Amino acid sequence: MKPLVLVLNGPNLNLLGTREPAQYGHETLADLAQGCADAAHAQGLEIEFRQTNHEGELIDWIHGARNRCAGIVINPGAWTHTSVAIRDALVASELPVIEVHLSNVHKREPFRHLSFVSSIAVGVICGLGSHGYRMALAHFADLFREHAA
Ligand code: DQA
Repeated sequence: MKPLVLVLNGPNLNLLGTREPAQYGHETLADLAQGCADAAHAQGLEIEFRQTNHEGELIDWIHGARNRCAGIVINPGAWTHTSVAIRDALVASELPVIEVHLSNVHKREPFRHLSFVSSIAVGVICGLGSHGYRMALAHFADLFREHAA
C-alpha cells in the first residue's frame, strides 16, 4: 500500500491565481492540486489535497490523520502566525510535518517571521512557489523509503 500524505492549505489559498499574484503567482489552487497529484504519483505516494477557510475544520482534518496518514504537508496560511491550536493538533497527530509557504515569509512583514508550526516541523520550505509542495512530497517519499528499507 502506498503511504498516504495529507496536503493541507489554510485560509485564502482558495483565491490563488487572483490573490496578490506578485506574491503568490498565477497558478490556481486547482493547478497546485494537480501538480501535487502528479508529483505524488511519480513518487509512489497517495495524497489527499484539501483547503479550508475554517480553522476548526483544519484541526478536525489533522486529528483525522492520526493513525491513518504517514505525514502532513501544510501551508497554514495566516494561521501559521497566529494559531497555537493548529500547532497543538499537529503535535497530537504524532505525524511528521513539513511546513510550506509559496512566498518567502522572511522577506515580508515582520509579523510573518513568526511561525507556531516551524519548531515542530521536520522542515520548512518557503519562497519556492508550488515547487515547495513538490519538494516536500519528494522528501516524504525518501523518508518513507528509508523507513521501509
Ligand atoms: C502564505 C504566507 C502567509 O503569511 C500568508 O498569510 C498566506 C500564504 C504563503 O504561502 O506564502 O496566506 O502561507
